[in-house]
Amino acid sequence: TSEEMEARIIAIKLQLGEKLFIPGHHYQKDEVIQFANVTGDSLQLAQLCAANKQAEHIVFCGVHFMAETADILTNDHQKVYLPDMRAGCSMADMANIFQTDRAWDALTEMFGDTIAPLTYVNSTAAIKAFVGKNGGATVTSSNAHSMVKWAFTQKERILFLPDQHLGRNTAYDIGIPLEQMAVWNPINDKLEYEGEIEDIKVILWKGHCSVHEKFTVQNIADLRESDPEIRIIVHPECSREVVELADDNGSTKYIIDAIENAAPGSKWAIGTEMNLVNRLIQNHPNKQIVSLNPSMCPCLTMNRIDLPHLLWSLDSIVNNEDINVIQVDEETTKDAIKALERMLARA
Ligand code: 13P
Ligand code: SF4
Repeated sequence: TSEEMEARIIAIKLQLGEKLFIPGHHYQKDEVIQFANVTGDSLQLAQLCAANKQAEHIVFCGVHFMAETADILTNDHQKVYLPDMRAGCSMADMANIFQTDRAWDALTEMFGDTIAPLTYVNSTAAIKAFVGKNGGATVTSSNAHSMVKWAFTQKERILFLPDQHLGRNTAYDIGIPLEQMAVWNPINDKLEYEGEIEDIKVILWKGHCSVHEKFTVQNIADLRESDPEIRIIVHPECSREVVELADDNGSTKYIIDAIENAAPGSKWAIGTEMNLVNRLIQNHPNKQIVSLNPSMCPCLTMNRIDLPHLLWSLDSIVNNEDINVIQVDEETTKDAIKALERMLARA
Protein backbone atom coordinates (compact mmCIF):
# COMPACT_ATOMS: atom_id res chain seq x y z
CA THR A 1 0.00 0.00 0.00
CA SER A 2 0.98 3.65 -0.22
CA GLU A 3 1.31 3.78 3.56
CA GLU A 4 3.75 0.86 3.56
CA MET A 5 5.80 2.41 0.78
CA GLU A 6 5.89 5.75 2.59
CA ALA A 7 6.97 4.10 5.84
CA ARG A 8 9.77 2.25 4.03
CA ILE A 9 10.98 5.49 2.36
CA ILE A 10 11.04 7.26 5.72
CA ALA A 11 13.05 4.38 7.22
CA ILE A 12 15.60 4.45 4.37
CA LYS A 13 15.95 8.22 4.67
CA LEU A 14 16.68 7.83 8.38
CA GLN A 15 19.12 4.98 7.76
CA LEU A 16 21.13 6.87 5.10
CA GLY A 17 20.96 10.31 6.75
CA GLU A 18 23.17 12.90 5.04
CA LYS A 19 24.54 10.29 2.65
CA LEU A 20 21.25 10.63 0.78
CA PHE A 21 19.99 13.78 -0.95
CA ILE A 22 16.64 13.98 -2.74
CA PRO A 23 16.13 17.10 -4.86
CA GLY A 24 12.57 17.50 -6.20
CA HIS A 25 11.49 19.70 -9.11
CA HIS A 26 8.33 21.79 -8.61
CA TYR A 27 6.55 19.79 -11.35
CA GLN A 28 6.81 16.52 -9.39
CA LYS A 29 3.79 14.80 -7.87
CA ASP A 30 2.86 15.48 -4.23
CA GLU A 31 3.45 11.81 -3.34
CA VAL A 32 7.10 12.30 -4.34
CA ILE A 33 7.72 15.91 -3.39
CA GLN A 34 6.83 15.16 0.25
CA PHE A 35 10.11 13.24 0.51
CA ALA A 36 12.35 15.81 -1.18
CA ASN A 37 15.12 17.35 0.94
CA VAL A 38 14.88 20.46 -1.24
CA THR A 39 12.45 21.62 -3.90
CA GLY A 40 13.15 24.12 -6.63
CA ASP A 41 13.17 25.02 -10.28
CA SER A 42 15.86 23.66 -12.57
CA LEU A 43 18.34 26.44 -11.74
CA GLN A 44 17.89 26.18 -7.97
CA LEU A 45 18.24 22.38 -8.07
CA ALA A 46 21.42 22.62 -10.16
CA GLN A 47 22.87 25.12 -7.66
CA LEU A 48 21.87 22.98 -4.66
CA CYS A 49 23.41 19.84 -6.19
CA ALA A 50 26.63 21.73 -6.99
CA ALA A 51 26.80 22.94 -3.37
CA ASN A 52 26.18 19.52 -1.79
CA LYS A 53 29.51 17.82 -1.15
CA GLN A 54 28.51 15.21 1.45
CA ALA A 55 25.72 13.19 -0.19
CA GLU A 56 26.95 9.94 -1.74
CA HIS A 57 23.57 9.22 -3.31
CA ILE A 58 21.56 11.89 -5.09
CA VAL A 59 18.13 10.58 -6.06
CA PHE A 60 16.90 13.14 -8.53
CA CYS A 61 13.14 13.56 -8.67
CA GLY A 62 12.82 15.42 -11.94
CA VAL A 63 13.66 14.57 -15.53
CA HIS A 64 16.70 13.07 -17.24
CA PHE A 65 18.46 16.30 -18.29
CA MET A 66 18.25 17.59 -14.70
CA ALA A 67 19.87 14.41 -13.36
CA GLU A 68 22.61 14.69 -16.00
CA THR A 69 23.23 18.28 -14.93
CA ALA A 70 23.46 17.15 -11.30
CA ASP A 71 26.01 14.48 -12.28
CA ILE A 72 28.10 17.01 -14.22
CA LEU A 73 28.14 19.42 -11.26
CA THR A 74 28.90 16.91 -8.50
CA ASN A 75 32.07 15.05 -7.55
CA ASP A 76 33.17 11.55 -8.57
CA HIS A 77 32.27 9.98 -5.22
CA GLN A 78 28.65 11.15 -5.62
CA LYS A 79 26.22 9.05 -7.64
CA VAL A 80 23.10 10.46 -9.24
CA TYR A 81 20.05 8.24 -9.76
CA LEU A 82 16.86 8.83 -11.75
CA PRO A 83 14.03 6.74 -10.24
CA ASP A 84 12.52 6.04 -13.69
CA MET A 85 14.74 6.12 -16.77
CA ARG A 86 11.69 6.89 -18.90
CA ALA A 87 11.41 10.32 -17.26
CA GLY A 88 12.78 12.26 -20.21
CA CYS A 89 11.77 15.62 -21.65
CA SER A 90 10.17 15.78 -25.09
CA MET A 91 11.68 19.22 -25.64
CA ALA A 92 15.23 18.04 -24.84
CA ASP A 93 14.65 15.19 -27.32
CA MET A 94 14.00 17.74 -30.09
CA ALA A 95 17.71 18.52 -30.48
CA ASN A 96 20.25 15.75 -30.87
CA ILE A 97 23.97 16.28 -31.28
CA PHE A 98 24.07 15.13 -34.92
CA GLN A 99 21.41 17.65 -35.92
CA THR A 100 23.23 20.30 -33.90
CA ASP A 101 26.59 19.62 -35.57
CA ARG A 102 24.94 19.83 -38.99
CA ALA A 103 23.18 23.07 -38.07
CA TRP A 104 26.41 24.59 -36.76
CA ASP A 105 28.29 23.70 -39.94
CA ALA A 106 25.59 25.28 -42.11
CA LEU A 107 25.15 28.35 -39.92
CA THR A 108 28.87 29.09 -39.56
CA GLU A 109 29.13 28.75 -43.33
CA MET A 110 26.38 31.39 -43.69
CA PHE A 111 27.41 33.74 -40.89
CA GLY A 112 31.08 32.98 -40.19
CA ASP A 113 32.33 33.30 -36.61
CA THR A 114 29.53 35.62 -35.48
CA ILE A 115 27.27 33.25 -33.52
CA ALA A 116 27.23 32.57 -29.78
CA PRO A 117 25.39 29.32 -28.97
CA LEU A 118 23.09 29.17 -25.96
CA THR A 119 21.15 26.15 -24.80
CA TYR A 120 18.25 25.94 -22.43
CA VAL A 121 19.22 23.46 -19.68
CA ASN A 122 16.38 21.32 -21.07
CA SER A 123 18.88 19.64 -23.40
CA THR A 124 21.14 16.60 -23.42
CA ALA A 125 24.62 16.68 -21.88
CA ALA A 126 26.05 16.32 -25.40
CA ILE A 127 24.36 19.57 -26.49
CA LYS A 128 25.63 21.33 -23.37
CA ALA A 129 29.13 20.08 -24.23
CA PHE A 130 28.78 21.36 -27.81
CA VAL A 131 27.76 24.78 -26.49
CA GLY A 132 30.56 24.80 -23.89
CA LYS A 133 33.14 23.93 -26.54
CA ASN A 134 31.96 26.76 -28.76
CA GLY A 135 32.16 29.52 -26.16
CA GLY A 136 28.46 29.51 -25.21
CA ALA A 137 26.47 28.88 -22.07
CA THR A 138 23.40 27.21 -20.67
CA VAL A 139 20.28 29.17 -19.75
CA THR A 140 17.28 28.49 -17.55
CA SER A 141 13.95 30.22 -17.71
CA SER A 142 14.87 32.26 -14.63
CA ASN A 143 18.10 33.74 -16.03
CA ALA A 144 17.41 33.72 -19.78
CA HIS A 145 17.30 37.52 -20.07
CA SER A 146 20.71 38.07 -18.51
CA MET A 147 22.23 35.14 -20.42
CA VAL A 148 20.93 36.35 -23.80
CA LYS A 149 22.29 39.84 -23.05
CA TRP A 150 25.62 38.26 -22.09
CA ALA A 151 25.72 36.25 -25.33
CA PHE A 152 25.34 39.46 -27.33
CA THR A 153 28.45 40.82 -25.59
CA GLN A 154 30.31 37.81 -27.07
CA LYS A 155 29.02 37.73 -30.66
CA GLU A 156 26.69 39.58 -33.05
CA ARG A 157 24.18 36.74 -33.22
CA ILE A 158 22.90 33.92 -31.07
CA LEU A 159 21.75 30.38 -31.75
CA PHE A 160 19.20 29.38 -29.09
CA LEU A 161 18.51 25.67 -28.51
CA PRO A 162 16.11 23.84 -28.23
CA ASP A 163 13.04 25.90 -27.22
CA GLN A 164 12.00 28.41 -29.87
CA HIS A 165 9.43 29.98 -27.54
CA LEU A 166 11.73 30.74 -24.59
CA GLY A 167 14.30 32.03 -27.09
CA ARG A 168 11.80 34.23 -28.95
CA ASN A 169 10.07 35.58 -25.84
CA THR A 170 13.38 36.40 -24.17
CA ALA A 171 14.99 38.02 -27.21
CA TYR A 172 11.83 40.06 -27.81
CA ASP A 173 11.85 41.28 -24.19
CA ILE A 174 15.41 42.54 -24.49
CA GLY A 175 14.51 44.53 -27.60
CA ILE A 176 15.23 42.30 -30.61
CA PRO A 177 12.41 42.71 -33.17
CA LEU A 178 10.65 39.55 -34.33
CA GLU A 179 11.74 40.35 -37.90
CA GLN A 180 15.35 39.75 -36.85
CA MET A 181 14.63 36.22 -35.66
CA ALA A 182 14.92 33.14 -37.87
CA VAL A 183 14.04 29.53 -37.13
CA TRP A 184 16.37 26.59 -37.74
CA ASN A 185 14.41 23.48 -38.70
CA PRO A 186 16.41 20.38 -37.67
CA ILE A 187 14.12 18.04 -39.57
CA ASN A 188 15.12 19.33 -43.01
CA ASP A 189 18.27 21.28 -42.00
CA LYS A 190 16.81 24.54 -43.33
CA LEU A 191 16.75 28.10 -42.05
CA GLU A 192 13.20 29.50 -42.08
CA TYR A 193 13.43 33.22 -42.79
CA GLU A 194 12.00 35.62 -45.29
CA GLY A 195 14.28 38.70 -45.24
CA GLU A 196 17.97 39.41 -45.87
CA ILE A 197 20.02 36.96 -43.84
CA GLU A 198 22.49 39.68 -42.72
CA ASP A 199 19.64 41.13 -40.63
CA ILE A 200 19.26 37.98 -38.54
CA LYS A 201 20.24 38.44 -34.91
CA VAL A 202 18.61 35.38 -33.33
CA ILE A 203 18.43 31.83 -34.70
CA LEU A 204 15.81 29.81 -32.83
CA TRP A 205 15.90 26.02 -32.82
CA LYS A 206 12.53 24.64 -33.89
CA GLY A 207 11.71 22.86 -30.63
CA HIS A 208 8.99 23.35 -28.06
CA CYS A 209 7.48 22.03 -24.85
CA SER A 210 4.49 19.83 -25.53
CA VAL A 211 2.99 20.81 -22.16
CA HIS A 212 3.29 24.60 -22.45
CA GLU A 213 2.18 24.60 -26.10
CA LYS A 214 -1.23 23.44 -24.87
CA PHE A 215 -2.02 26.89 -23.46
CA THR A 216 -3.71 28.72 -26.29
CA VAL A 217 -4.95 32.12 -27.38
CA GLN A 218 -8.45 30.61 -27.25
CA ASN A 219 -7.97 29.66 -23.56
CA ILE A 220 -7.11 33.30 -22.84
CA ALA A 221 -10.08 34.64 -24.82
CA ASP A 222 -12.46 32.24 -23.01
CA LEU A 223 -11.19 33.25 -19.59
CA ARG A 224 -11.24 36.97 -20.30
CA GLU A 225 -14.83 36.62 -21.42
CA SER A 226 -15.95 34.65 -18.36
CA ASP A 227 -13.94 36.72 -15.87
CA PRO A 228 -12.53 40.07 -17.03
CA GLU A 229 -10.80 40.64 -13.67
CA ILE A 230 -8.69 37.50 -13.64
CA ARG A 231 -4.93 37.94 -13.99
CA ILE A 232 -3.21 35.53 -16.35
CA ILE A 233 0.39 34.49 -15.75
CA VAL A 234 2.23 32.04 -18.01
CA HIS A 235 5.62 30.35 -18.37
CA PRO A 236 7.79 31.71 -21.24
CA GLU A 237 7.78 28.24 -22.85
CA CYS A 238 4.29 29.24 -24.04
CA SER A 239 4.02 30.64 -27.58
CA ARG A 240 4.70 34.32 -28.31
CA GLU A 241 0.98 34.95 -28.97
CA VAL A 242 -0.01 33.52 -25.58
CA VAL A 243 2.74 35.40 -23.72
CA GLU A 244 1.69 38.63 -25.44
CA LEU A 245 -1.96 38.26 -24.40
CA ALA A 246 -1.17 37.18 -20.82
CA ASP A 247 -0.80 39.81 -18.07
CA ASP A 248 2.58 38.50 -17.00
CA ASN A 249 5.08 35.76 -17.75
CA GLY A 250 8.04 34.26 -15.99
CA SER A 251 9.88 31.16 -14.89
CA THR A 252 8.55 28.59 -12.46
CA LYS A 253 10.08 30.49 -9.54
CA TYR A 254 8.71 33.79 -10.83
CA ILE A 255 5.20 32.33 -11.00
CA ILE A 256 5.46 30.90 -7.46
CA ASP A 257 6.70 34.23 -6.08
CA ALA A 258 3.96 36.17 -7.91
CA ILE A 259 1.25 33.97 -6.39
CA GLU A 260 2.83 34.08 -2.94
CA ASN A 261 2.93 37.88 -3.03
CA ALA A 262 -0.55 38.29 -4.51
CA ALA A 263 -3.31 39.95 -2.49
CA PRO A 264 -5.79 37.69 -0.66
CA GLY A 265 -8.93 37.31 -2.73
CA SER A 266 -7.11 37.96 -6.01
CA LYS A 267 -7.94 35.77 -9.03
CA TRP A 268 -5.31 34.03 -11.13
CA ALA A 269 -5.13 31.75 -14.12
CA ILE A 270 -1.76 30.02 -14.47
CA GLY A 271 -0.27 28.62 -17.65
CA THR A 272 2.20 26.02 -16.47
CA GLU A 273 2.45 22.38 -15.41
CA MET A 274 -0.47 20.83 -13.53
CA ASN A 275 1.25 19.49 -10.40
CA LEU A 276 2.65 22.94 -9.64
CA VAL A 277 -0.68 24.67 -10.36
CA ASN A 278 -2.51 22.19 -8.09
CA ARG A 279 0.01 22.75 -5.31
CA LEU A 280 -0.40 26.53 -5.62
CA ILE A 281 -4.18 26.07 -5.41
CA GLN A 282 -3.80 23.95 -2.24
CA ASN A 283 -1.26 26.28 -0.61
CA HIS A 284 -3.26 29.46 -1.26
CA PRO A 285 -6.86 28.79 -0.26
CA ASN A 286 -7.41 32.53 0.18
CA LYS A 287 -6.73 33.19 -3.55
CA GLN A 288 -8.79 31.99 -6.49
CA ILE A 289 -6.45 30.04 -8.74
CA VAL A 290 -7.26 28.02 -11.86
CA SER A 291 -5.24 26.49 -14.67
CA LEU A 292 -5.29 28.55 -17.87
CA ASN A 293 -6.26 25.38 -19.76
CA PRO A 294 -9.19 23.55 -18.12
CA SER A 295 -7.67 20.18 -19.12
CA MET A 296 -4.81 21.06 -16.72
CA CYS A 297 -1.79 19.94 -18.82
CA PRO A 298 0.37 17.41 -16.97
CA CYS A 299 3.99 16.74 -17.92
CA LEU A 300 3.72 13.00 -18.49
CA THR A 301 7.43 12.36 -18.15
CA MET A 302 7.74 14.28 -14.86
CA ASN A 303 4.81 12.17 -13.64
CA ARG A 304 6.68 8.94 -14.34
CA ILE A 305 8.46 9.43 -11.03
CA ASP A 306 6.00 8.11 -8.49
CA LEU A 307 6.05 6.50 -5.06
CA PRO A 308 6.87 2.95 -6.27
CA HIS A 309 9.75 4.20 -8.45
CA LEU A 310 11.16 6.37 -5.67
CA LEU A 311 11.05 3.43 -3.26
CA TRP A 312 12.58 1.07 -5.87
CA SER A 313 15.46 3.49 -6.37
CA LEU A 314 16.07 3.89 -2.63
CA ASP A 315 15.86 0.13 -2.07
CA SER A 316 18.46 -0.43 -4.77
CA ILE A 317 20.85 1.93 -2.98
CA VAL A 318 20.40 0.13 0.33
CA ASN A 319 21.01 -3.19 -1.48
CA ASN A 320 24.17 -1.82 -3.16
CA GLU A 321 22.77 -2.30 -6.65
CA ASP A 322 23.70 0.36 -9.18
CA ILE A 323 20.30 0.77 -10.78
CA ASN A 324 19.32 3.83 -12.84
CA VAL A 325 22.62 5.62 -12.26
CA ILE A 326 23.05 8.67 -14.48
CA GLN A 327 26.66 9.00 -15.49
CA VAL A 328 27.85 11.53 -18.05
CA ASP A 329 31.18 10.48 -19.57
CA GLU A 330 34.33 12.46 -18.72
CA GLU A 331 34.85 13.98 -22.15
CA THR A 332 31.27 15.33 -22.29
CA THR A 333 31.46 16.54 -18.68
CA LYS A 334 34.66 18.50 -19.36
CA ASP A 335 32.96 20.66 -22.01
CA ALA A 336 29.42 20.72 -20.61
CA ILE A 337 30.69 22.06 -17.30
CA LYS A 338 32.10 25.10 -19.09
CA ALA A 339 28.62 25.96 -20.40
CA LEU A 340 27.04 25.43 -16.97
CA GLU A 341 29.71 27.38 -15.13
CA ARG A 342 29.37 30.38 -17.45
CA MET A 343 25.71 30.42 -16.41
CA LEU A 344 26.23 29.73 -12.71
CA ALA A 345 28.82 32.53 -12.51
CA ARG A 346 26.08 34.96 -13.60
CA ALA A 347 23.07 33.37 -11.88
P1 13P B 1 12.21 25.67 -14.83
O1 13P B 1 13.53 26.05 -15.42
O2 13P B 1 11.31 26.84 -14.66
O3 13P B 1 12.40 24.84 -13.62
O4 13P B 1 11.46 24.78 -15.90
C1 13P B 1 11.91 23.52 -16.26
C2 13P B 1 10.97 22.93 -17.17
O5 13P B 1 11.10 21.80 -17.56
C3 13P B 1 9.88 23.77 -17.61
O6 13P B 1 9.08 23.10 -18.44
FE1 SF4 C 1 10.18 19.05 -20.73
FE2 SF4 C 1 7.97 20.51 -20.98
FE3 SF4 C 1 8.03 18.50 -19.23
FE4 SF4 C 1 9.44 20.74 -18.81
S1 SF4 C 1 7.23 20.55 -18.87
S2 SF4 C 1 10.17 18.64 -18.53
S3 SF4 C 1 10.06 21.26 -20.92
S4 SF4 C 1 8.21 18.32 -21.48
